[in-house]
Amino acid sequence: MSGLSSRILAVLALTTAFTVASGKTLYAQPLDTLLANADVAAGEKISHRCAMCHTFDKGDANKIGPNLWNIVGSFRAHVSGFNYSDALKSMNHEKWTYDALNLFIANPHKFAPGDKMPFAGIANEKERADLIAWMRTLSDNPAPLPAAK
Ligand code: HEC
Repeated sequence: MSGLSSRILAVLALTTAFTVASGKTLYAQPLDTLLANADVAAGEKISHRCAMCHTFDKGDANKIGPNLWNIVGSFRAHVSGFNYSDALKSMNHEKWTYDALNLFIANPHKFAPGDKMPFAGIANEKERADLIAWMRTLSDNPAPLPAAK
């Protein structure tokens, strides 16, 4: 093997180790695996915790929070006419990836300091993945699931 390809392999090995190590601090299981095994029906039930402030159906009105139809993969603070906090508005060039939604739902105030979502978060990673897997279906063209590693 040439020196170059062994160096590339070493870098790859390091990157993989880092991903696994950092993944462990955030989740006991990687989000991709949790999403691949998610219980979408259970996720719909978990969404009842959000329903006092959010509607989820296409075209429904905003409540205390914005309508969440088609949220997976959309830009943040994307609902026109909703009065977002500066914290969310300042992120409006970034998208709600699976990872971002997972972190926000786990702890909104940590993910977006200064946000105005009066919700403490969902600590259980399986519940978050079930919920996000259900939210993914709320789209005319659902985003692909991340490939499970
Ligand atoms: C008590 C009301 C309340 C509850 C409960 C609540 N939210 Fe929110 N949510 C809000 C408000 C208000 C905002 C706007 C936050 C801002 O502008 O800082 C928001 C924003 C959001 C956003 C960003 C939307 C966008 O357009 O970028 C997501 C995603 C979200 N909420 C998901 C959830 C989920 C999932 C739940 C349930 C697990 C939930 N929320 C529970 C009030 C609530």
